[in-house]
Amino acid sequence: MHWPSILIPGVNNMSLPDLMIRPRRLRNSATIRRMVRETVLTTADLIYPLFVDETITEAVAVKSMPGVSRIPLSQVGDAVQEVAALGVPGVILFGIPAEKDAVGSGGWDADGIVQRAIRAAKAACPDICVIADACFCEYTDHGHCGVLHGEEVDNDETLINLQKEAVSYAEAGVDIVAPSGMMDGMIAAIRTALDDAGFSHTPVMSYAVKYASGYFGPFRDAADSAPSFGDRASYQMDPANRREALKEAFLDVDEGADMLMVKPALAYMDIIREVKDATQLPLAVYNVSGEYAMVKAAAANGWIDEKRVVLETMSGFKRAGADMILTYHALDVARWLNEK
Ligand code: PBG
Ligand code: ZN
Repeated sequence: MHWPSILIPGVNNMSLPDLMIRPRRLRNSATIRRMVRETVLTTADLIYPLFVDETITEAVAVKSMPGVSRIPLSQVGDAVQEVAALGVPGVILFGIPAEKDAVGSGGWDADGIVQRAIRAAKAACPDICVIADACFCEYTDHGHCGVLHGEEVDNDETLINLQKEAVSYAEAGVDIVAPSGMMDGMIAAIRTALDDAGFSHTPVMSYAVKYASGYFGPFRDAADSAPSFGDRASYQMDPANRREALKEAFLDVDEGADMLMVKPALAYMDIIREVKDATQLPLAVYNVSGEYAMVKAAAANGWIDEKRVVLETMSGFKRAGADMILTYHALDVARWLNEK
């Protein structure tokens, strides 16, 4: 055989005729590939989002998110049992209240939709980990994530409401509080309020690094939380920024967060890796609504193999450093993993 005399960089100037290092040896069989696999995805990595709507009695499909529905309170018990039966350990709850107001007071109503959903979920399935998203965009009549002064979200007034919301979630029995509004000082404020109210054992998962993203579009249909004017760029991060992600993550570590999150996930794989390397807390990533919608649309057209693409994406998140993945694909992924 004739070998061209090309030098292989990094292999001691070895030329092709002497080729001794052959990575393909470890790809020769499914068994060897399994033995040397570096990243393993399991159902324990997944968290499934649930939208609970106070205004409905039957599930309503979310058009832009095929396979996802808003469910009534009466279906929360069955939903969490289905999740748990598939081996998925956690859900994150989002509430759509019947009434909205300027400050989002439904967020800290002891009988609010999320508080009732927490109680229903824990009653049906004590072992499921119930996470509740703590924000106000679903509860305000203007759709912004806090109290407005003019057109600006007032950070410090919103912190006081976040404290009330977090404590009312804890009183309802939530397992983890997950503030998502990108208010400065939100972790310290919530930690202090939980501790003062006797919930020092309740962890806080911080949406620490959350970008002002176009990928949230379908979620805002699902949760009825689109801002009625402007955008969220004065509180969520500029997608162009990397150093700022570390600054946000370190702040939340210092303020006492128990877990961090990067969101969205796909366009921010570099950020996931950097936050993972720079911190010691468990790291969640949120595979958001727009990422889900794109995959579902392409799959519905027969343009991609959904199972293959979704599993590849999930192991990509883990490879990038994710310990937990919040995803609308969670139940499908669990079914695929369980069938293997
Ligand atoms: C609430 C919140 C949002 C998402 C999670 N919590 C929307 C937003 O910030 O506008 C987005 C989730 C998704 O797109 O799947 N602040
Ligand atoms: Zn919000």
